[in-house]
Amino acid sequence: MYSSSSASKFVILIHVFAMQLLHINSELPLNTTNAYLNHKCLVSKGKYKPGSEYEKQLKLTIKNFYSDSGNKEGFTLLGSDGFSAILQCRGDSYGSKCRDCYATAVAALHRRCPWYKAKIIWYDQCLLSFDTKYSTGQIDYDNNFCMSNAKKLGGDKLAFIRTWNIFMDNLTTLAIRVDNNDTKTSPLYAVGETKFKGDMMYGMVQCTKDIPEKACEECLVFNSIHFQFCLNDKRGARFMCRSCTFRFEFYPFIAKQVRNI
Ligand SMILES: *[C@@H]1O[C@H](CO)[C@@H](O)[C@H](O)[C@H]1NC(C)=O
Ligand SMILES: *[C@@H]1O[C@H](CO)[C@@H](O)[C@H](O)[C@H]1NC(C)=O
Ligand SMILES: *[C@@H]1O[C@H](CO)[C@@H](O)[C@H](O)[C@H]1NC(C)=O
Repeated sequence: MYSSSSASKFVILIHVFAMQLLHINSELPLNTTNAYLNHKCLVSKGKYKPGSEYEKQLKLTIKNFYSDSGNKEGFTLLGSDGFSAILQCRGDSYGSKCRDCYATAVAALHRRCPWYKAKIIWYDQCLLSFDTKYSTGQIDYDNNFCMSNAKKLGGDKLAFIRTWNIFMDNLTTLAIRVDNNDTKTSPLYAVGETKFKGDMMYGMVQCTKDIPEKACEECLVFNSIHFQFCLNDKRGARFMCRSCTFRFEFYPFIAKQVRNI
C-alpha cells in the first residue's frame, strides 16, 4: 500500500510489507503504533573504533539523552564541532512516549548501523540522528524521503492541489507562529484538519527545535516541492528529513485528533 521515492528504496521496500500489515485493517487509528519508517547509515562519514574517543562521546550522549527524552519538550540536542546529536519526538509524543520511542530508536540504530559514526533513524513518533560535525541549527537537505499511500485520490486533481497547498500553508504558518508573549518561541509543530469533498483530511507539520522559524518554513516548502509527485493525488503521504516533516491522511493519526473523534 505504501510506496516510496528515496535513496534507500530497497530498505523501504522490505518495510512496505510491514506497513501493509499495519495498514490493511485500518484506516482506523491505532493508538499504539510507532512504526519504523526508515534509517540511513552515513557511510561516507566513516566508522569508529572500540575504545575510541568517539565511542565514549556517543555512549555518554546516549545515556544523557535517555534522561532528557522524558522531558516536556520531547526534544534534546547536543552540538559540538566534532559531534552532534538530535532527538526530536512528534509533538504529541513527550514524556514516557518520547522516551519509549528513543529507547527503540537507539537499539535499532545500533543494530542497523553498527560502528557508523553518523546515522539517522525515523519512527512515527521520533527522529534520532548522530553526526560527526556541528550540524544542528541548519537545514539538512541531503537526508530526506517521501512515502505515500498507493491509493490514488482520483477525481479533481487540481482542486485537491489547491486545497492541499492552502492546508500546508496554514499548518506552516501555525507551526512558526511566535506567541506574542515573553517566551518568543514558536512550537515548530502544528496539526490541523480540513474537509476535502466531504472527507476529513488530517495534517501535521513539524521541524526539529534546533532550527529557526524561517528555516523551518524553508525546509517545509523545499520538501513539498521536491516531493510533489509523491504527495499529490494520494490518499495520504508524508515526507521526512532530518529537519522537518509533513504528513497528511484521511484518518486521524495524532493522539489529540484521535481523542477528538
Ligand atoms: C487504544 O487505547 C485504549 C485506551 O487508551 C485501549 O483500551 C486500547 O486497547 C488501545 N488500542 C490499541 C490498538 O492498542
Ligand atoms: C486555512 O486557514 C484559513 C484561516 O484560518 C481557514 O479559513 C481555511 O479554511 C483554512 N484552509 C485549509 C484548507 O486549511
Ligand atoms: C504567555 O502565554 C502563557 C501560556 O499561553 C500564558 O499563560 C501567559 O499569561 C502569557 N503571558 C503574557 C504576558 O501574555
